[in-house]
Amino acid sequence: DAPVAKPPLSVLICAPRGFCAGVVRAIDAVEKALALYGPPVYVRHEIVHNKYVVESLKRKGAIFVDELDEVPDTDAPVIFSAHGVPKSVPEEAAQRRLFGIDATCPLVTKVHREAEVHHKKGRHVLLIGHAGHPEVVGTMGQLPQGAISLIETIEDAGTIAVADPDKLAYVTQTTLSVDDTQAIVDALKARFPSIAAPHKEDICYATTNRQEAVKRVAPQVDAMIVVGSPNSSNSQRLREVAERAGCPVARLVLRTDEIDWSMFSDIRSLGVTAGASAPEILVEEIIDAFAERFEVTVETVSMADESVFFPLPRALRDEAAE
Ligand code: F3S
Repeated sequence: DAPVAKPPLSVLICAPRGFCAGVVRAIDAVEKALALYGPPVYVRHEIVHNKYVVESLKRKGAIFVDELDEVPDTDAPVIFSAHGVPKSVPEEAAQRRLFGIDATCPLVTKVHREAEVHHKKGRHVLLIGHAGHPEVVGTMGQLPQGAISLIETIEDAGTIAVADPDKLAYVTQTTLSVDDTQAIVDALKARFPSIAAPHKEDICYATTNRQEAVKRVAPQVDAMIVVGSPNSSNSQRLREVAERAGCPVARLVLRTDEIDWSMFSDIRSLGVTAGASAPEILVEEIIDAFAERFEVTVETVSMADESVFFPLPRALRDEAAE
């Protein structure tokens, strides 16, 4: 039999995509701690929300725990994840004389400091974010109980009762939908005209740039794949952005074995992006899987250049270790 010709597929890859500076720093922190101190290195929570990354660090000697009480009394480093932690966590680590290393993304720490400054100025803080996400738990945990109220939806913004509308501020999670957040902020400003806002967006550059690139690509393609984990907030938002931009099929997948090929049998064009915690090797794996079934041509659609770099936590910089 003559070989059946593969159907053509035009693949548009979004740029920027994948790892952000905060994720690179957090993963490097675990690897550097393993190199400097040897295994085991304890990590509280998934260092970044990606199973592939977590599994590969486990193989190198990292031990992941949900809470500090799972860490024995030890000299080994205990690293806090990129999402940030409530103040009680480093406090508990210090009390137990654990060697805590904070891999919180500096752009999350910036939000923590903002919340503190507002609190010191006597303002009640509204945090726009998703209940239960570790970043939200960490930010709420910067201030005493009751000092921060969580705003999840535009309805919350319309109904939240505040003691003094003139002593009010908002901060946000770093990985939200840019458009949804703007709508919530507008609703808050309409009700509370004097609400204090962040000097510079709390939604980080990486989240914004990845969403912009998806907005450009999604209307041009028959389907879109976002490489990322279901518990990754910024990856979930990328999938939603693709859907809202008019892409008929938008799926979040971690690995190729999660692809439901029946959804992609008739497509002629595909957009690909990756959440901030997804390594590029997984993007390549997905494109290779399509190349087995289609005659692919690949083009990159670039919306921004990123050159952001964050140095390692102080305890892991070479001068500190010497
Ligand atoms: Fe930081 Fe944004 Fe990445 S807050 S960890 S740079 S997604």
